[in-house]
Amino acid sequence: MDYSLSPLPGQSDFGVVVTGFKPEMLDDESVRKQLYDLWIDKGLVVFRETDGLETQLKLSEVFGECEVHPLLLESDWPHEDKVSVKIDEEAGGIYEVDGETRAGWLAWHKDSIYTDKLNHGGILWSITVPEQGGETGFLDQISAYEALPKDLQERIEGLNVIYQYTRDSTEGRFGDQPDRRVRLSAFQEDSNKASSTLQRVIHPMVYEQEHTGRKVINVSPWFADGIEGMENKEGDALLREVIAHLMKPQRRYYHKYVPGEMVLWDNWRILHCATGTPMGMKRLMRRTTIFGDYALGRKEVVEAVA
Ligand SMILES: [Fe+2]
Repeated sequence: MDYSLSPLPGQSDFGVVVTGFKPEMLDDESVRKQLYDLWIDKGLVVFRETDGLETQLKLSEVFGECEVHPLLLESDWPHEDKVSVKIDEEAGGIYEVDGETRAGWLAWHKDSIYTDKLNHGGILWSITVPEQGGETGFLDQISAYEALPKDLQERIEGLNVIYQYTRDSTEGRFGDQPDRRVRLSAFQEDSNKASSTLQRVIHPMVYEQEHTGRKVINVSPWFADGIEGMENKEGDALLREVIAHLMKPQRRYYHKYVPGEMVLWDNWRILHCATGTPMGMKRLMRRTTIFGDYALGRKEVVEAVA
């Protein structure tokens, strides 16, 4: 009994597809270690023909403990509401993008970058897949760093990026934006009440992946608010230059789901986005979030004026 590996369709810089995976393989400690190392090495792992809640939980445990979304910790929302990602017209989160109205569109981001703790990743299990749209975009920030011109590598070394929660990407300062907001979801409406959204946080713009020493462009376009100590025209221009390099079209991989597969990503070095689902169609995913803290984030200290 064995699984096989193949590259992501059309993307050779990162990611891997696992075929022939069976949940009982996880009883073997050496398989668990292989899968963990694969996740760290490739950043994105697609498990074809992998289905079911029990399997998702068992698989998640290979990579770490599951955590509750930080915006749910102090809210009245049932935790289940963020574990199941139900996207349709009724759920809201509707934007006009490229002249089309779509539900559940999300800009490119890292989860929880607006808090000082960056979770280590997640697993999305596709249950209902719309006939059109509903893709998740993924982008690797290690190969993006390696392709960065030397002078830009030098200019960003040692800099830090400030993040501020924005529930609506039409209000974000950096990155792609939708043409127009139609209606926020009830969760989005409520989300800026959590205390974790009120304080700005700071993360290094570049850091080294533990164990491999590979450098990561640690920038999330959505939620970025500026460069620490350079919140001016020059700093914003530099951040825009880095984001433009990062977001080059050839780096963007869009995963087109089939029902009954699981996609695992490493939030410490992979950006993701949601392309949204056309009106009248339904998308249902279930996600787990893998706890972790790379311990490089910190809250902004605002000095009181005397
Ligand atoms: Fe996300």
